Amino acid sequence: MAQKIVVTGGAGYIGSHVAVELLSAGRDVLIIDDFSNAHPEALARIKELAPGNLELLERDLANPAHNDDIIAAVKAFGADSAIHLAGLKAVGQSVAEPMLYYRTNIGASLTLIRALDAANAKTIVFSSSATVYGELNDSPVDEAGKTGAANPYGRTKLIIEDMLKDLAAADGAWRVVNLRYFNPVGAHPSGRIGEDPNGVPNNLFPFIAQVAVGRRKKLMVFGDDYPTRDGTGIRDYIHVSDLARGHLAALDYLAGLENGGALDINLGTGAGYSVLEAVAAFKRASNRDVPYEIAPRREGDIAEVYANAKLAQKLLGWRAEKTIDEMCADHWRWQSNNPDGYNTKV
Ligand code: UD1
Repeated sequence: MAQKIVVTGGAGYIGSHVAVELLSAGRDVLIIDDFSNAHPEALARIKELAPGNLELLERDLANPAHNDDIIAAVKAFGADSAIHLAGLKAVGQSVAEPMLYYRTNIGASLTLIRALDAANAKTIVFSSSATVYGELNDSPVDEAGKTGAANPYGRTKLIIEDMLKDLAAADGAWRVVNLRYFNPVGAHPSGRIGEDPNGVPNNLFPFIAQVAVGRRKKLMVFGDDYPTRDGTGIRDYIHVSDLARGHLAALDYLAGLENGGALDINLGTGAGYSVLEAVAAFKRASNRDVPYEIAPRREGDIAEVYANAKLAQKLLGWRAEKTIDEMCADHWRWQSNNPDGYNTKV
């Protein structure tokens, strides 16, 4: 019988790519999403890319009034595990509205855990972030690095990681992997699904892509006086399809374990690129100009962070395969075919 996997936030940027990977691998998927930062069209595109058994439950995991429906649906689906991506993720907003972040991200996790418990499906892969390392480590950073988030968003990630570890320590039937993503970029090579941010993008790649396609005039490069090779910030960009495969590898790893437990695993490439290198790669891939201007540093940014990704290779047999040029080419295909994201009229 096919494995049955709940994917919270499955209509979002990363979730839609995870759903496609799972369905393509013959797994059954129940997406729970409230479409607060996702588009219903993404569901149609997932189905088009990967035929298979896909169900949708449109509910808010953080809304107590939806708890009973969610618990009943997870049970009725016959879930045996979950990939938990639902949550808010805008750093600036989390500083302005911390309680919204604690209520939403932690509340959603508590509901999911209750539902998995009720369905006796005690396996979870959690969408954590390299943001948990804060500014406390030199790169490459491995999973033993010090943790300490610099904002409420990051703190919700750490709190949820810790909650899941406590859970696994108390009940040996739980199997947990906290995946610490570095910087997901790119899109499915078909150009049919991709990142469709609400409003002005906070992150570098969606911003560059909107400049290249002519939706915005120029990129602001936040600081060129960092102690890096060209003065701009260095990050570990990882193709979202590589990242999505990492979730499947984590589930397979957990299924093969003799005993339960919880562990943290980085998903990155192990290589860092500067902002200007990313801009140059995007220009090559798109054949478009990407005008930019040097601006002051963005508060809270650090000079350089990239992964030591060896644990994922050792335990999951997974490694990132796609190059920065492929990330840019795929990101561009999505952006140029869908200049207004999922609202683009075709
Ligand atoms: C950001 C979040 C991080 C979150 C991640 C999710 C901050 C401080 N950090 O990571 O917590 O987990 O997104 O993807 O918001 N840049 C520009 N101009 C821009 C945008 C970005 O120069 O318009 C630069 C940044 O200074 C940085 C690099 O590009 O050096 C990457 O920025 P971004 O894509 O926002 O990712 P992070 O800041 O690494």
